[in-house]
Amino acid sequence: MGISDTLTEAFAYSLDEADPLAGFRDRFFVPPETIYLDGNSLGLLSTDAEMAMLGAIEAWKAWGVRGWTEADPVWFTLAESVSARLAALVGADPTSVIVTGTTTVNLHQMVGTFYRPEGQRRKIVATALDFPSDIHALKSQIRIHEGDSGRDLVLVPSRDGRMIEEADIIDAMTDEVALVLLPSVLYRSGQLLDMPRLIAAAHACGAMIGFDCAHSVGAVPHAFDAWGVDFAVWCSYKYLNAGPGAVGALYVNRRHFEREPAMAGWWGVRKDQQFEMEHDWVGAGHAGAYQISTVPVISTAALDGALAVTEEAGIAAIRAKSLAQTDYLIDLIKQYGLVESRFGYRVGTPADHDRRGGHVAVEHEHAAGISLALKARGVVVDFRPPNVIRLAPVALYTTFHDLWLAVQALGAIVERGEYLQMTSGDAVT
Ligand SMILES: Cc1ncc(COP(=O)(O)O)c(C=O)c1O
Repeated sequence: MGISDTLTEAFAYSLDEADPLAGFRDRFFVPPETIYLDGNSLGLLSTDAEMAMLGAIEAWKAWGVRGWTEADPVWFTLAESVSARLAALVGADPTSVIVTGTTTVNLHQMVGTFYRPEGQRRKIVATALDFPSDIHALKSQIRIHEGDSGRDLVLVPSRDGRMIEEADIIDAMTDEVALVLLPSVLYRSGQLLDMPRLIAAAHACGAMIGFDCAHSVGAVPHAFDAWGVDFAVWCSYKYLNAGPGAVGALYVNRRHFEREPAMAGWWGVRKDQQFEMEHDWVGAGHAGAYQISTVPVISTAALDGALAVTEEAGIAAIRAKSLAQTDYLIDLIKQYGLVESRFGYRVGTPADHDRRGGHVAVEHEHAAGISLALKARGVVVDFRPPNVIRLAPVALYTTFHDLWLAVQALGAIVERGEYLQMTSGDAVT
């Protein structure tokens, strides 16, 4: 088959026919007339998550407060039961993961717990391309420790504005570093960092290391226990499809189970003592100790349901399809000549599979207007300033044909100047 045959719509359909995960799409509510490529911002609702949420609502109707002990599954230990399944997905012992809080709140909890500046060892290493909320959290944690973020926060610069070289991060790991906090996947370019290498290097320099895995859990396999990372946080509303603002999760390595969480609450107390209502805090003795408040039952139920789909497909198959789809997308963009100067697109995501997360960053001088023009055509993407259009195929529900159509739209929008009619940005995702 020649190169041109692989560019046809018929070839896109043939890829869908051969796709072993194709059947999972029927379990999702894909908005009508839409090519949905924004699952790295908000994943779609599955019938499984819908049923689980409806089940929780029915239990609330039927039981009222007795749902805490009578509902199926019982609400009182809902976080623990869902966490055990989530742990399997991230390569962790069930006691090392807890479904709780949200990404930034959990980050505060983790940094508060693990950042212990002492003597010369006061610095936190992060990157210049981090998601802003992580930087806000780190600066405020440094402030709590009466530090100075101008001195104590080291942001490893990018050489090209897209990627962060692991070697540069490792160079920043000196004996003045107390904590390293990194994204698993950079939210803008989609670069996947070499987590095992960075964990080993941080430990060699005597620092703690944690990861914000918001852009990798559900798309990329993890092996937290085997890698020996100290902690991790992530959300469940992107590739885990648990719904807008859904409950997040965190990982704590079991060697830290003796530590006391920076922010304690009654939900982190040992389950068998929680209702003794003592003022002395007796922690759960595992990741469950990091819970602060009452489990949010409806969104945890949604995660419970949504996880079933991910488990059934299997993370290895999800990753294999995700890479095949991002390969296909990058290939189509290049083969259609969209990177030539008359179109002006560039691909900002690494070509190497080992360095690629779940989405493709397409750069363009008029990225904001093009993103709006894509939405006007029913292709849902998001724009990240200054020049990135993020296209996220989600293995569970995106078809190869969707990607083929999205690339046609990218070409047509520039050819016809459609982006010139768009006026405002759209960064609200
Ligand atoms: C990498 C990353 N970290 C943190 C956050 C903030 O998450 P939350 O609003 O759940 O705290 C986001 C949100 O999209 C993100 O992409």
